[in-house]
Amino acid sequence: MKVWNVAAAGAVQAEAALAEAGALLRAGGLVAFPTETVYGLGANAWDEAAVRRIFAAKGRPSDNPLIVHVDSRAMLAGVVQGAIPRLAEKAMEVFWPGPLTLLLPAHPRLAPSVHPGVATVGVRCPSHPVALALLGKAACPVAAPSANRSGRPSPTSAEHVAADLAGRIDGLVDGGPCPVGVESTVAWIADGEVVVLRPGSVTPADLERALGLPVRSAAEHSGEQGVPLAPGMKYRHYAPDAQVCVWVGDAPAVRRAVEAFWDERASGRRVALITPGWRPASGRKPLAVWSPPTGEPYAAALARELYRLLRRFDELGAEFIFVHGVPASGIGAAVMNRLAKAAEGRVVQL
Ligand code: TXA
Ligand code: MG
Repeated sequence: MKVWNVAAAGAVQAEAALAEAGALLRAGGLVAFPTETVYGLGANAWDEAAVRRIFAAKGRPSDNPLIVHVDSRAMLAGVVQGAIPRLAEKAMEVFWPGPLTLLLPAHPRLAPSVHPGVATVGVRCPSHPVALALLGKAACPVAAPSANRSGRPSPTSAEHVAADLAGRIDGLVDGGPCPVGVESTVAWIADGEVVVLRPGSVTPADLERALGLPVRSAAEHSGEQGVPLAPGMKYRHYAPDAQVCVWVGDAPAVRRAVEAFWDERASGRRVALITPGWRPASGRKPLAVWSPPTGEPYAAALARELYRLLRRFDELGAEFIFVHGVPASGIGAAVMNRLAKAAEGRVVQL
């Protein structure tokens, strides 16, 4: 696996590195790269053999469709069939480049494995400058799921990608840590409504404001006629070896609940803790604690760090991970969606 560190390189070196990585992608190679959300594992979306290698490298179920990445509206030719519906145009205008994936009719030129069993393709234009530059060099649409082994947390740094996929892929573009940290919002736009299949940092309120349509979440329709589901949401997601427990509420109430649970169930055990800033009263010694840097909003910082922390706490051998959760508004909805999966439902509202 060739690694290009473009975060540390000067402009000229970075350009040369991305040209090389782009050519490798174009020619059928598997190249992981940073986006603003998480690292993606890319392949030329027109090359069936290359796209199949993504599934093999990740151990991904073959019926789970991939998101195709483009650097411009011009690159949508050969990805989306027919004219772009007016509302999708509007969404692209407002939210691209950025973490919004739209489901649109798939173009026949796409490798069939990009969209197994569905007539739509998920497309997005990432805002990360390295991703945009790489797509430009590749000069083809790039199919890319998150660059983790299936069942592992999405990677938010090049180290995470290497830990999961070294030896299984051809290249890795290291652009430093991902600024958002949770995967893109996946949305389906119909005439009269928008359905969010996977919550992300583009929120239902953002979509409602921009498109003037009511927005529903996938949980509210769960597979009714004519409304797509994201197949990926049905697979078991990463849950750490540690038991994750989440409490949502104000700081004094969450602190009391954590301390009571700790004394009753986790006394003397290896506990990792995620809080907005409070610390447990003396007598309870955590193995590790994370809180956001002062001044940074908790929900956004937690979104950025969550997957890294889950990987880290597992490596440290934590038996419990206690998390002070966030209100499910703004990016908080995406954070709580991922946390509830990691906690296998152990979320307490106080
Ligand atoms: O932020 C992201 O979206 C990252 C970066 C790399 O762009 N990618 C990502 O891809 O998270 P992946 O494959 O890990 O998740 C894609 C999700 C899955 O739940 C998949 O089932 C759903 O999107 N999806 C993709 N295409 C779809 C389609 N045509 N219809 C329904 N769901 C689709
Ligand atoms: Mg994924």
